[in-house]
Amino acid sequence: MKKHILIVPGDGIGQEVTTVGKQVLDRIAEKFGHEFTYDEALIGHVAIEATGDPLPEETLTKMRASDAILFGAVGHPKYDNDPSAKVRPEQGLLKMRKELGLYANLRPIKLFDELLEASSIKPEILRGADILFFRELTGDVYFGKRERIDDGNTAYDTMIYSKYEVERIARKAFDAAMTRGKKLMSVDKANVLESSRLWREVVQAVAKEYPEVEVSHQFVDSAAMLLIKNPRNFDVVVTGNLFGDILTDEASQIAGSMGMLASASIGDSTGVYEPIHGSAHDITGKGVANPLASVLSAALLLDISFGLKEESEAIIAAVDAVLKAGFRTRDIANSETPADKILGTDAMGAELLKRL
Ligand code: IPM
Ligand code: MG
Repeated sequence: MKKHILIVPGDGIGQEVTTVGKQVLDRIAEKFGHEFTYDEALIGHVAIEATGDPLPEETLTKMRASDAILFGAVGHPKYDNDPSAKVRPEQGLLKMRKELGLYANLRPIKLFDELLEASSIKPEILRGADILFFRELTGDVYFGKRERIDDGNTAYDTMIYSKYEVERIARKAFDAAMTRGKKLMSVDKANVLESSRLWREVVQAVAKEYPEVEVSHQFVDSAAMLLIKNPRNFDVVVTGNLFGDILTDEASQIAGSMGMLASASIGDSTGVYEPIHGSAHDITGKGVANPLASVLSAALLLDISFGLKEESEAIIAAVDAVLKAGFRTRDIANSETPADKILGTDAMGAELLKRL
């Protein structure tokens, strides 16, 4: 198979982790006889520094011309403490999602057995947890009207959803539920918010097309509690942009670490595959970032965008094998991990490639 992949490392540890992600794609191409070509493009803080624009036109053009995108992270602490900054790295990410029509963000929460101890949650609560989140990605308060009024003394953001937006993400989630445990939880705040009442109405209507799927509706506060109380009860979850952002960071603890979680953003055109972790400037350049979320993002890319199931599974098996061999990056190590098993980014990548 011949495919063109765009690597967009972005900011912070994005560069370090996508380097390993790309090495893994290369190894897969070699092993399974595919031909992958690559290009690179800027986004976020590095793009602002180079061009003044967090998503330069050139990047967008390259994105549209590629078959899939392996993405790193965006963000820089200098903007986080400057609420008045007009140009921000995250604007690049949000514009990319909107421009490419990436309305469905899939975040699989799967716990590798070897990492049962890495989580702050008790192993007996976690064992066997396997959840697939569908986070809506191009609507909600992220894209609603926002403004400062009253001479700058008051501000508002608008939580807004249209029926078609809820319908299309709900269908994707129901389709996935049919291939899994046939259980779907829709998360909203319909006891308070009108946009959530619309959300629930639409999910209830779509549910009629999937009589085999057992559907439940939870308010977001209760869903947040149940996720930690009994993660094994969850199968597929569908929710809006903001609730999904918050719940998936929480759910990352079920997988041991944020450093293990991959995501796929799909919709109308080229799919984007990225870790759910951010740019992590506190560890940038130190060579200690966990590359496994980027590696698992590459696995999702092969599976979802190219339909290469066997190749994707080979990557997941290799991740499993390095963990079984006892290797850990700092974020997934614990006090019992021998010092010589705690690896940096590149060494973890090398161990993984050996097993591919
Ligand atoms: C994520 C991130 C982004 C989001 C930030 C960086 C804007 O937290 O992808 O989850 O809120 O969507
Ligand atoms: Mg987030």
